Amino acid sequence: MMDKLKFTIKLSSLLSNFSNLQTKLLINRLDRNNIPNHIAIVMDGNGRWAKKRGLPRIKGHIEGTKSIKRVLEIAYDLNIKYLTLFAFSQENWDRPKQEVDGILKIIRKSLQNEINQLNEKGIRVYVIGNFKRVPDDIKNTIKNVQKITKNNKKMNLCIAFSYGGREEITQAAKNLAKDVMEGKMKILDIEESIFRNYLYTKDIPDPDLLIRTSGEIRISNFLLWQMAYTEFVFTPVLWPDFNEYHFLKAILEYQERERRFGLV
Ligand code: IPE
Ligand code: IPE
Ligand code: MG
Repeated sequence: MMDKLKFTIKLSSLLSNFSNLQTKLLINRLDRNNIPNHIAIVMDGNGRWAKKRGLPRIKGHIEGTKSIKRVLEIAYDLNIKYLTLFAFSQENWDRPKQEVDGILKIIRKSLQNEINQLNEKGIRVYVIGNFKRVPDDIKNTIKNVQKITKNNKKMNLCIAFSYGGREEITQAAKNLAKDVMEGKMKILDIEESIFRNYLYTKDIPDPDLLIRTSGEIRISNFLLWQMAYTEFVFTPVLWPDFNEYHFLKAILEYQERERRFGLV
């Protein structure tokens, strides 16, 4: 029994040293002059991760918060300026109440617990989405975290919460129309650069790289306007299994792409 335990421990430390080594090797292969300025992630596969283990879906969401910490840390170390995480979509409100309540609880707790550390590290936090259905206490926490971190410059963390790309574009159109009606804007002056100021992401540059986990090859209503020229990397890894190694691999894949923006 003892021997078996020793062997298991040895093997797992060997494996973790091996994956540390693999991660280091990948870091050395990175082109430091071509690190994406903005990485967006659709963190998908929490439910399937839990199901595979016979656990309730909420356990997958809880485990997924560990991946968020891992990714945030390595993005910070790599000096990535913008990281946007799709945490909860407009459509996700229609999931069973028990799951929605569970996710809200995780988001509430994570924001409250991490606020000081994020601030100490110089991370500015943005939360984007339509908060009409969000409970008041979470709305206040969101306001608070954005206010406290608003002068931070080291890195920007943007959390898409209760977010839908079409909803974002629709509310932008509505607010723009209102400004025209009120005489604050002329129809002839409306250009892309004006329209984008009405989006939730008005202060955030477009993503250079989108990563989606869990093997789904779709964008599920995420940043529709902003991703016009984003490079997409899809991985079958489920979000709670996603780690530094997978993150670096996605950046390396990005670095092999030739971005043409419609030119030759
Ligand atoms: C992503 O994981 C997290 C949220 C959508 C909140 P899912 O919950 O979609 O997990 P799967 O796709 O069902 O495995
Ligand atoms: C997208 O994942 C939303 C988040 C990761 C928060 P979903 O699991 O909701 O998307 P679909 O249903 O697979 O398109
Ligand atoms: Mg999903």
